[in-house]
Amino acid sequence: MSQSKLWGGRFTKPTAKAVERFTHSLEIDRRIGREDITGSIAHARMLGKQKIIPSADAKKLVASLQKLLKDWDAGKVRLDPAAEDIHTVIQKEIEKRAGKSAGRLHTARSRNDQVVTAFKLHCNERLELIELQLKSLQQAILTQAQKNQTLLMPGYTHWRHAQPIMVSHLLLSYVTMLQRDRERIADAVRRMMSQLPLGACALTGTGLKTNRLAVAKELGFSGISMNSIDAVSDRDFAAEILSALSITGIHGSRIAEELILWSTEEFGFLHFEESLLTGSSMMPQKQNPDFLELVRGSSACIIGRLTGLLTLLKGLSSGYNRDLQLDKEIVLDAFDKIDGILSVLILGFNGIRFNRIRMERQLADESLYATDLAEYLVQKGLPFSEAHRAVGQLLAYADKNNQSLKTLPLSVYRKFSNRFGPDAARLINPTVSVSRKQSAGSTNPGQVRQQIAAWKKALR
Ligand code: ARG
Repeated sequence: MSQSKLWGGRFTKPTAKAVERFTHSLEIDRRIGREDITGSIAHARMLGKQKIIPSADAKKLVASLQKLLKDWDAGKVRLDPAAEDIHTVIQKEIEKRAGKSAGRLHTARSRNDQVVTAFKLHCNERLELIELQLKSLQQAILTQAQKNQTLLMPGYTHWRHAQPIMVSHLLLSYVTMLQRDRERIADAVRRMMSQLPLGACALTGTGLKTNRLAVAKELGFSGISMNSIDAVSDRDFAAEILSALSITGIHGSRIAEELILWSTEEFGFLHFEESLLTGSSMMPQKQNPDFLELVRGSSACIIGRLTGLLTLLKGLSSGYNRDLQLDKEIVLDAFDKIDGILSVLILGFNGIRFNRIRMERQLADESLYATDLAEYLVQKGLPFSEAHRAVGQLLAYADKNNQSLKTLPLSVYRKFSNRFGPDAARLINPTVSVSRKQSAGSTNPGQVRQQIAAWKKALR
């Protein structure tokens, strides 16, 4: 019936307007237009080589598609809003450009295998950029770790003072978690690109003699899907991507949360470059870290997208179902969100200034050195449980009598353990505390220096 559709033949009545509007997907899938053209080029070339279509038609199709790709990149392709989806738009464009040859393009394929191929290609492109952004973020954090190599701060557990740490050690913990994100993404990409869906056709394959491996090679896939039914039903790659991006989002959110808190008036451990902050329409004094709050918030949206996709998939039968059309809206939004998160975090780390004095003030809390004192007693031969108890009692005594551990006489220390010597009070010092750590991966300055050197090399 309608000339603007790819499937009019069987129909005698026009589609109801509401159904047309509801099933329409151009607004979203226009974003995979470029990859749809690339996929079609490889497909047309293969059809010609395999003599499924005359080679003159294949040549004409490839040339028209290549020209279309140029026009697409130049923003010169007008999208007919009445077209059902991007595949329809591109088919109609090719009809304008390649004349009768255009009718041969959609041989031995269906939109079912075509769309998931274009989508995979698009995901591959986007993830490459996200991977680069993750690396830039690691580099920005590493730069701060280098700049603040000797800076110390309290380390927290349960948001209570725990033990002193190197600020650079903490920063490198961020770099370390982002490395896992990069690996997770690379892993998902490798699996996704090992199975080209194109050639599965609607669901059974085709009676025509296609060469799927050649198409895979041209499009950068390392292999082809070996079950045509699975190929058109599978969106595991999208679930894996969203799961990887959710974890990255969670990392961004946790980092943001920490930075927000440390930049409060109460902590004052760090300040942000003014251009990163935003004001209040009512309170003139405000300079708020809204960008970090939106990092935290955006990560929630990504997790929502993951659960959205999983829910979309869980009831689907084998073969293509139209529900699958909604996968793109879900994944593309997650790409955009993660892109935003990573961009502002990179700027954020470039614009941080740490406040040594505010950190030093907190490091004066002597409870931060309790573990060092307990380990001191262990080194003098006491079982750890007894050392733990002795130091606990010593702290309680100092607290109750409003005394400083640094100035308490040795005789008082010895009331709690006779293993205490005159050198014990020396441990109540942040530099001594971090320097006496020696286990692999610890906050020891020498080890942190080595970690920095290793990351510098790895991130070059
Ligand atoms: N627009 C659809 C999608 O994005 C592809 C078209 C497949 N349509 C169909 N009726 N088999 O998934």
